Amino acid sequence: PVLVIDFGAQYAQLIARRVREAQVYSEVVPHTASVAELLDKDPAAIVLSGGPSSVYEPGAPQVDPKLFDVGVPVFGICYGFQAMAGALGGTVAHTGTREYGRTELGVTENGGLLHEELPGTHPVWMSHGDCVTEAPEGFTVTATSEGAPVAAFEDKGRRFAGVQYHPEVGHSPHGQEVLRRFLHEIAGIRPQWTTSSIVDEQVARIRAQIGGGKAICGLSGGVDSAVAAALVQRAIGDRLTCVFVDHGLLRAGERAQVERDYVAATGVKLVTVDARERFLNALAGVTDPEEKRKIIGREFIRVFEQAERDLKAEGDYQFLVQGTLYPDVVESGGGAGTANIKSHHNVGGLPDDLQFTLVEPLRALFKDEVRRVGTELGLPETIVQRQPFPGPGLGIRIIGEVTAERLEILRKADAIAREELTSAGLDRTIWQCPVVLLADVRSVGVQGDGRTYGHPVVLRPVSSEDAMTADWTRLPYDVLERISTRITNEVAEVNRVVLDVTSKPPGTIEWE
Ligand code: XMP
Repeated sequence: PVLVIDFGAQYAQLIARRVREAQVYSEVVPHTASVAELLDKDPAAIVLSGGPSSVYEPGAPQVDPKLFDVGVPVFGICYGFQAMAGALGGTVAHTGTREYGRTELGVTENGGLLHEELPGTHPVWMSHGDCVTEAPEGFTVTATSEGAPVAAFEDKGRRFAGVQYHPEVGHSPHGQEVLRRFLHEIAGIRPQWTTSSIVDEQVARIRAQIGGGKAICGLSGGVDSAVAAALVQRAIGDRLTCVFVDHGLLRAGERAQVERDYVAATGVKLVTVDARERFLNALAGVTDPEEKRKIIGREFIRVFEQAERDLKAEGDYQFLVQGTLYPDVVESGGGAGTANIKSHHNVGGLPDDLQFTLVEPLRALFKDEVRRVGTELGLPETIVQRQPFPGPGLGIRIIGEVTAERLEILRKADAIAREELTSAGLDRTIWQCPVVLLADVRSVGVQGDGRTYGHPVVLRPVSSEDAMTADWTRLPYDVLERISTRITNEVAEVNRVVLDVTSKPPGTIEWE
């Protein structure tokens, strides 16, 4: 792999994704890993990421100079570029000039391999206080900017290079090309990480792990569990059984999508458990968001455990398939505890005492790769391109008690909003658009000649990269108008449609 050393900025995962876009497998490793630990992973190259600190700050993470003596190609970015310059004998100065944001980069005459064929000046994204004023011996300076006399350098012989700017962000339009050139041209790595190679490799691993055994997989209707199950099915065929729990908090058509589209595409063995009554009873009278979330999580586990016991009759299921993604793996590997804002119940996340061996075929993959694998495996677009939907479903989109009638109202309004957003071609523009029913609020309206006293629904369209932060999406007025008109016409209980224009923070994406 190409190892991306994480110096504590948020960029390391993004860099790893970009490396993979250049069809080279990459992993993120903490900056505390020793050179020996890095070599254990047999790296094809090492990328030093940006970091929050100044190279001069006491306690700033350093690069062990031994790293440059082991014959592995190295690429430094921003902080990593300065750390590299420092370790190899160049000069890093605290000049007081800062560059933040869009900056013009000037490629020098001997622009080297990194910037070959790129325009002589082009915009890049900078974010630095210190800068490299003198490149280490043996390096050619290949680009400069106003605030960075050495904005890029390379040493082809030793296969080292670096840039002061951030090539991984979209604001550096040629950044991906520069990264690609480092990997392919300077480091000499062959691009082999393709979707079909991922499928082949994962299928082989799953076969090795499960052998002649049997596996069970909880399907949530979401992308991750669907793709994980499809991979395992490709590997072990009908020794996989999927379980889909209908908790009654699903959106219109979701159960059918899994039962019909998914099975048609994969031919997987599927057991659906109808647990609608059970969830409604458990949620009766409950209005507190955290309490709802806990009840839904708990009931889900009970239903799943029961399904698992029922399956025992057909044989011994030792393996449990889960759709854990690479970002979850990286994030749980370290980092300080964060405040508990909401108990995210990844319905599908089960307790350890279930006595299964876990099979996690997506552990090395990012979301976009998971989608491509799904497509490669023949899953329909309706599943592969699905927007995120919370495990607790519509249960946390009804503000107030969850009842069968209220679920029906929300399902209708939600279906209309989704239909209109899809036909306006906005599915890829928005991250998701929760529709929220304010079930305990009523307002006066007029329809025909009569007075109405109905409920408002809230549209919450958001744009986001990763759901950690989000902005409200500026939907076209005509689309909003169609959604509003249709909902108030077609859903009798709703007489008002309102738009949520709060970013995250301070709002969260879901209302509960
Ligand atoms: P919030 O509301 O925290 O949501 O801004 C961030 C993202 O997570 C989804 N979400 C959940 N997903 N189980 C899930 O699997 C949950 O309990 C859950 N709660 C929120 C939400 O839809 C958004 O994409």
